[in-house]
Amino acid sequence: MAVIPLTRPILGDDEQAAVAAVLASGYLVQGPQVAEFERLVAAHVGVAHAVAVTNCTAALHLSLLALGVGEGDLVIVTPYSWVATANVIELCGATPVFIDIDPATFNLNVALLDQYLTESPEAARVKAIMPVHTFGNPAGICELIDVAQHHGIAVVEDAACAIGAVERGRAAGSFGAIGCFSFHPRKIITTGEGGMLVTDDPWIAGFARGYRNHGQESVDGMVEFVMPGGNLRITEMQGAIGVIQMRRLAGLVESRGTLSARYDSLVTPLGYTPQHRSPGAAVQSYVVLSPEHLSAASVIAHLRANDVEATIGTNAIPFTRYYREQYQLSDRDLPATAMVRDRAITLPLFPGMAEAEQDRVVEVLATVLQ
Ligand SMILES: Cc1ncc(COP(=O)(O)O)c(C=O)c1O
Repeated sequence: MAVIPLTRPILGDDEQAAVAAVLASGYLVQGPQVAEFERLVAAHVGVAHAVAVTNCTAALHLSLLALGVGEGDLVIVTPYSWVATANVIELCGATPVFIDIDPATFNLNVALLDQYLTESPEAARVKAIMPVHTFGNPAGICELIDVAQHHGIAVVEDAACAIGAVERGRAAGSFGAIGCFSFHPRKIITTGEGGMLVTDDPWIAGFARGYRNHGQESVDGMVEFVMPGGNLRITEMQGAIGVIQMRRLAGLVESRGTLSARYDSLVTPLGYTPQHRSPGAAVQSYVVLSPEHLSAASVIAHLRANDVEATIGTNAIPFTRYYREQYQLSDRDLPATAMVRDRAITLPLFPGMAEAEQDRVVEVLATVLQ
């Protein structure tokens, strides 16, 4: 029996033709295709500026640098994410403050955030808040922005998985001072590797454009280097793929939504609990909690043994080795994160997935219970 893969990027003849055209043009790095990709993302998100960079990790790092985050600063972050979300804080010399997640949405718990900012003597050192739209789910972002504004703290949205997601009519990535997207092959649209920083702030956009290109700027028509920067440019091949992928975005989000709703109706009666998603979620990964008496590890092993690719949800960052040794947080400090660490399972989801494939995944899930 063929293995049902966890994911499958949707790339077709249009992407192939677009890349071939770039190769024929001989213009390979950060040219008109990248500019068009940026224009399409900015228009979709509803922001003034979009700056393409090598990946979302670079976009998040750049965001913190743009906000002046450095040594001695605290940055509030979700403990349940790809480890990049916390790593960029460490790379700036700042310290992450992990606030537990909501056990249903898997997003940062806004009530706990408000409590920390109101009660902690260290709150004055908090320079930024980095919430994640976990698996493309923007639930709670409006309340989080209200709390952040009340306390006067900038928000960087880690929208790595959330291109195409909306909350109360606004796109994920447009709520905070900065939003960051990933175009890794496991995301909703892909350029191979790739990331994008979006913002309405012209200074932040200018800083990001300068930083991604060695601090280079045009001054009176001459090249000048106005600050130290790096090389975070993407290629025209990536830009050209991104342009086509943006045209596919609405259809991809819709298809993922339909498949996810079908999964919900099939797995819930078996005792699995799907992530609580808001109606505007763009489902990047379909994640369920195992029934209480079953560990995610045992369910995943059973799925894999039956030719269904499955994996954990994402990382419980404070319990990975570096963060465990550095901050020594226990399950009691972050009970919802610890619970989700032990019970979250990502099931196969990709546009074009056949109902028969979904049914097989569900059948295997059912047999774990027997
Ligand atoms: C929530 C989150 N943040 C950041 C990243 C990093 O994105 P990239 O691989 O584009 O650097 C990922 C990638 O998996 C992610 O899921």
